[in-house]
Amino acid sequence: MTKYAIGIIGGTGNMGQWFNSFFTEAGHKVLISGRQTAITTENIAETCDIVIISTPTDAAIRICKIIGPLLSENQLLMDFCSLKERIVDKMAESTRAAVIGTHPMFGPDTESIKGRNVVICPVKNSRWIDWLENLLSSKGAEVTRMDPAVHDRNMAVVQGLTHLLTICMGKTLQKLNMTPNLVNSCSTPIFKLNMDLLGRLFSQDLDLYSNLIGKNAYMKDALEIFSNALNEGEECLLYGSNGEKRSYLEEIREFLGDFCQTGFIESNKALNIIYPNKKPDPKG
Ligand SMILES: NC(=O)c1ccc[n+]([C@@H]2O[C@H](COP(=O)([O-])OP(=O)(O)OC[C@H]3O[C@@H](n4cnc5c(N)ncnc54)[C@H](OP(=O)(O)O)[C@@H]3O)[C@@H](O)[C@H]2O)c1
Repeated sequence: MTKYAIGIIGGTGNMGQWFNSFFTEAGHKVLISGRQTAITTENIAETCDIVIISTPTDAAIRICKIIGPLLSENQLLMDFCSLKERIVDKMAESTRAAVIGTHPMFGPDTESIKGRNVVICPVKNSRWIDWLENLLSSKGAEVTRMDPAVHDRNMAVVQGLTHLLTICMGKTLQKLNMTPNLVNSCSTPIFKLNMDLLGRLFSQDLDLYSNLIGKNAYMKDALEIFSNALNEGEECLLYGSNGEKRSYLEEIREFLGDFCQTGFIESNKALNIIYPNKKPDPKG
């Protein structure tokens, strides 16, 4: 396998460090830069076959405007930003190099890429796409090619809405003055899992979450649909007849199909591992 020089701008950060190890273990030579490192962004652009920007999106856009013109058509420019449409457009217009937007769908605490999703947005077709897909797949990643706008629309639900719901649960507990200690003694396994996810979010970089929600252009649409669903759910489940309640829930179950059973089995497995001494309560 050809060994490449891979430069990670933002390589001092969490994802940069993770991929530094990943590419190094795969036998490539990795250079990293941060704002305080001796190796500069320009050094990376001038010396590496593959240049990856792993910084917050606004910085990534500024950086690609600087390094894009320094790159040749033989090089590959990539990024790890969590939203793809803006950065991929800016990378493509900044350079003659091949461009592949990449979103690793996991965080830096992940032990292995095995079984993890990676979305790639190839912009300029080149030999690099096969190289990247083969490398990631050979280590067990599930790689999917996706249009940047489709990716961002999906992320409005997968990340934006999911994190917003967690944040609003935190706000609700705060308004009710239900502290984690107070609710612990009456938690079901499912609620405890939700509490752990709540703690997990608020233990991390709050700007990251705020950007995943606030900077996604598709969030407004997703929220409007969610808000309608919330109103419908309230209307039906609080004030509807028993028949209306049942058909409302059955319609959703029909939409989800076989996944309901899969989800039941998988969530039981997870709960039994996380809370080994407690039998999950099916009503939890
Ligand atoms: N964390 C995740 O779970 C995750 C998952 C998938 C994708 N991502 C994406 O990956 C990217 C990096 O995330 P991260 O979690 O690794 O963030 P991070 O740990 O905060 O690291 C950010 C990196 O960017 C550099 N940086 C920050 N602001 C900069 C600026 N204004 N100009 C130049 N460099 C700057 C930092 O360098 P210094 O050494 O100078 O501070 C650092 O190396 C983000 O776009 C994020 O959305 C994150």
